[in-house]
Amino acid sequence: MSELKEHNYNYKVIRQFAVMSVVWGIVGMALGVWIAAQLMFPALNFDTAWLSFGRLRPLHTNAVIFAFGGCVLMGTSFYVVQRTSYARLISDKLAAFVFWGWQAVIIAAIITLPMGLTSTKEYAELEWPIDILIAIVWIAYAWVFFGTIVKRKVAHIYVANWFYGAFIITIAILHIVNSAALPIDWTSFKSYSAYAGAIDAMVQWWYGHNAVGFYLTAGFLGIMYYFVPKQAERPVYSYRLSIVHFWALIAIYMWAGPHHLHYSSLPDWAQSAGMVFSIILLAPSWGGMINGIMTLSGAWHKLRTDPIIKFLIVSLSFYGMSTFEGPMMAIKTVNALSHNTDWTIGHVHAGALGWVAMVSIGALYSMIPSLFGKAKMHSISLINVHFWLSTIGVVLYIAAMWIAGVTQGLMWRATNSDGTLTYTFVQALEATYPYYGIRLFGGFLFLAGMFVMAYNVFKTIKNPGKADTKIPQPGH
Ligand code: HEM
Ligand code: HEM
Repeated sequence: MSELKEHNYNYKVIRQFAVMSVVWGIVGMALGVWIAAQLMFPALNFDTAWLSFGRLRPLHTNAVIFAFGGCVLMGTSFYVVQRTSYARLISDKLAAFVFWGWQAVIIAAIITLPMGLTSTKEYAELEWPIDILIAIVWIAYAWVFFGTIVKRKVAHIYVANWFYGAFIITIAILHIVNSAALPIDWTSFKSYSAYAGAIDAMVQWWYGHNAVGFYLTAGFLGIMYYFVPKQAERPVYSYRLSIVHFWALIAIYMWAGPHHLHYSSLPDWAQSAGMVFSIILLAPSWGGMINGIMTLSGAWHKLRTDPIIKFLIVSLSFYGMSTFEGPMMAIKTVNALSHNTDWTIGHVHAGALGWVAMVSIGALYSMIPSLFGKAKMHSISLINVHFWLSTIGVVLYIAAMWIAGVTQGLMWRATNSDGTLTYTFVQALEATYPYYGIRLFGGFLFLAGMFVMAYNVFKTIKNPGKADTKIPQPGH
């Protein structure tokens, strides 16, 4: 019965999002490799503002988080909500608007960020006219997603949808509050934040940290809760744990933002509260990770044979690692060493490449054949090649940044007996160069894997064969 209904799902919009995920993944990561090269070879800034590190860096973060990550989240959520609700998306037109509207936002970012048009708020750099477009597209997205849940044909709302739902609602609130700004006039793109001083800083990092918690975490946990059971062909290890995981994560993440503002002008009690909530956050994060990994119990052999499972399980390991590292870095005395160093950059990419990108890649490989009516991906061995390129790439990236970061932190704080600094800033920078080289190489490997994926996806789509296997349903 579900096979029959499946043909009635709106797969067109998901196909579009899936293909654009790969395209934007390549663009965003190529920008990452480029700015990593600029940090090693400053001549690559070419003396033009457009191509300078300062302008391309936010383009990288926007491209990977909002273009790549956004397409993955929107595509997979539309896939999961239909298949677990046994219902077609409520409106094809609105779904198409979400796709094209989101692409318009991305193009606007690609044009305005290199021009230097920026609100200067990290991860929310786009100026107010684009912010308004984002809000409209996001409300349409919420409408399609929740509308489909409302007309579901089963009483139960599968846990993946809870995570997607929390991600959609929270990002709407975060975006609207954080982006509140006063345009200087109605014709220019320039605006000033509605908040000032320490309050502005707090609002920014309330947004920034919850963008991590709800966009880079809850949304991708939605992916995890659908695709890990599906690919493992096992039910979720503990459904009860998934509910506890959900509520604990939602309740705690909101309060951890001040760990981005340690030793700043933010009141001390707020910094300490942020630190405490960050440490507590370790528990639900690991609960979720264990739930995902244990879903494979009884099917461990698949780790040897199925490279898609490898992507999903290794991504969970990186999730566990970065959510252990984060609470440690939130401890004030540790943060005194790590803040502003490349350790933070290593932490970011353990989460962003190891967790976000790898779980996305696993989900895309799992979903793409069924979207295009094929039995499987064109080449399983190429998925394996991709897996190793990504894994080696991310390990090189983060190990290099750990060493670089701790070196910087120690060199910056070293003092002589007379109180003067032992090292100049340039000496610390020089000590970092070899690690920038290793990071560049690691990033290059990761990017190379994305090209392998693009080829494999292209061949899968072009493959004349039809699907002959039934796609297993997760969870229930
Ligand atoms: C080939 C892959 C990638 C490479 C080579 C790369 C490289 C870089 C570089 C060089 C920076 C600037 C670091 C600095 O300012 O010192 C950066 C920043 C950043 N990247 Fe990536 N990146 C990659 C993939 C990703 C992905 C997939 C994501 C997210 C899903 C991501 C998220 C970020 C974020 C959030 C920052 C800002 C970090 C901060 O301000 O602390 N990157 N990346
Ligand atoms: C329990 C979970 C986590 C906690 C408590 C945590 C904590 C932290 C801390 C303390 C910092 C350093 C702030 C600073 O010194 O400026 C940081 C930075 C960051 N973390 Fe995490 N982290 C967690 C998980 C994650 C995950 C899973 C990701 C990505 C998927 C992530 C992405 C980031 C980003 C992008 C930054 C850099 C922000 C910036 O300065 O631009 N974090 N995190």
